[in-house]
Amino acid sequence: MTTVTPFLARLKDATRPHHEATELTVNLGNRSKTREGYRELLGRFLGFYEPAEARLAPVLGQTVDLDFTRRRKTELLKADLRSLGLDDAAINSLPRFTALEPLHDVPTALGSMYVLEGATLGGQYIAKYVQSALGVEPGQGCSFFSSYGEEVGPMWKAFREVLTAHADAEPDQEAIIDSAKATFEHFNDWFLAFGK
Ligand code: HEM
Repeated sequence: MTTVTPFLARLKDATRPHHEATELTVNLGNRSKTREGYRELLGRFLGFYEPAEARLAPVLGQTVDLDFTRRRKTELLKADLRSLGLDDAAINSLPRFTALEPLHDVPTALGSMYVLEGATLGGQYIAKYVQSALGVEPGQGCSFFSSYGEEVGPMWKAFREVLTAHADAEPDQEAIIDSAKATFEHFNDWFLAFGK
């Protein structure tokens, strides 16, 4: 495990209510009762992750030793949707979230990435659940939630090290926390608009 620095603890605490709201808005239990509901859930994730990753790429793809390309999940979501029966035209016509503000600096980008990466942790539990409930597998409808497979722990540790390295100065810490909160809020708005 990564040492939990005071900053990492502060970030987790500051976003705890947001994470609790996320668990409610995602409403996994309800949405993964059927393959159709699960497919709609993945489509909703795609609608957020695709624009969110596109806005991170120009900042994080160049400036931080983060292995950003490997961390992108958009293609995993699209592969899952194809496995569940959608063709590319149907995938392209799914709604996307359009209210993300442009990003200009690394701390703000990392704060947003924290939210996207953190979902790999909950994803481990979600993957187990939907695999047993719906019979999906990594590579066959459950690639997104399985994400890095056995590497989830090491990938999270490496991400937190990058985050910590960029959180020395107080203004950077505030920027990371504010951006993580804003990203969670956008995510929750997007899922609230999806309904129950
Ligand atoms: C809806 C079902 C979800 C469940 C049941 C869930 C559960 C969890 C659990 C158990 C952890 C802690 C894992 C650990 O410390 O080893 C965690 C961490 C985290 N999750 Fe979720 N999660 C869910 C969805 C999400 C989503 C959709 C996001 C982002 C959009 C997210 C963001 C995070 C973040 C950022 C952390 C890291 C907290 C930290 O240690 O700093 N989670 N989640």
